[in-house]
Amino acid sequence: MARKAVLALSTVLLLATSALTACSTEAPDSGKAGKGGSDGKITLGFAQVGAESGWRTANTKSVQDAAKKAGITLKFSDAQQKQENQIKAIRTFIQQKVDVIAFSPVVESGWDTVLKEAKDAGIPVILTDRAVDSKDTSLYKTFLGSDFVKEGRSAGEWLAKEYADEEGPVNIVELQGTTGSAPANDRRAGFAEIVEKDDKFKVVASQTGDFTRAKGKEVMQAFLKSHKDIDVLYAHNDDMALGAIQAIEEAGKKPGEDIKIISIDGIKDAFVAMTEGKINVVVECNPLLGDQLMDLTKKVADGQSVPPRVETEEGVFTQDQAAEALPTRQY
Ligand code: AHR
Repeated sequence: MARKAVLALSTVLLLATSALTACSTEAPDSGKAGKGGSDGKITLGFAQVGAESGWRTANTKSVQDAAKKAGITLKFSDAQQKQENQIKAIRTFIQQKVDVIAFSPVVESGWDTVLKEAKDAGIPVILTDRAVDSKDTSLYKTFLGSDFVKEGRSAGEWLAKEYADEEGPVNIVELQGTTGSAPANDRRAGFAEIVEKDDKFKVVASQTGDFTRAKGKEVMQAFLKSHKDIDVLYAHNDDMALGAIQAIEEAGKKPGEDIKIISIDGIKDAFVAMTEGKINVVVECNPLLGDQLMDLTKKVADGQSVPPRVETEEGVFTQDQAAEALPTRQY
């Protein structure tokens, strides 16, 4: 009898010890150990910006394909360019107890509360494509995406070279991305940093086209009405540039000649426009982030440490490179 009691006691102790060992494998702030559901699969909640551009469509496809390939269960939400929708989606992911949350913030500000909720629930967050301006960097594990300031600088550097021998003034109109978004803020700042060095460059109008073709066209129409002497269009993405091209042609001008066009992203349609002489230069921004995102997801789900910033490599393409590069463009 006494032997039985000792045996029972040792079994209880053994179980208690293994439970403690399991707890001690948790990442300190993850609140969960050995992520994954009962089937051992990781669930990733992904809150996408929307479907505003060719870039975004390629990004969504890349994430969905990569999740399938990596065996990660993806819960996907499209915020239709609205921050409140993204916040709602993140809260739903928290309630659903997903293993990891990734999102591409529509705008930079206003995320601290919901990010804190995710942290308190022990769910690691990955920022992908766009950044947030939260001071507390412990609210997310890493950022995966592009250096948008650098992209803006590259756009400005092309312009400075192109007009190096001209006296000016060079009148520039700017089609900004979504107001308050990281790419709009940073691409504007990077470009300004370069063009402000030479006062022959004048940004005569700058307005948001919300990263869409329709708005790009509409705002360019307004620019053309109020400014008769536009030399250059700087568009924060290809879709707005392509919309603007329609407006320029409808106004009886030649895009790429009467008005030089600088754009960002590098979607196939923009390369086609370059081969037709309608866009002068494209600064690449890579949307194919899916595989890297899945790698990071696995690591953070497993409590492994990851670098605070993972940047993608990107190039600059001019008209003379467009025809050769077009067949190999993946998005
Ligand atoms: O955040 C990346 C930007 O968002 C892309 O440049 C633009 O096309 C998209 O809408």
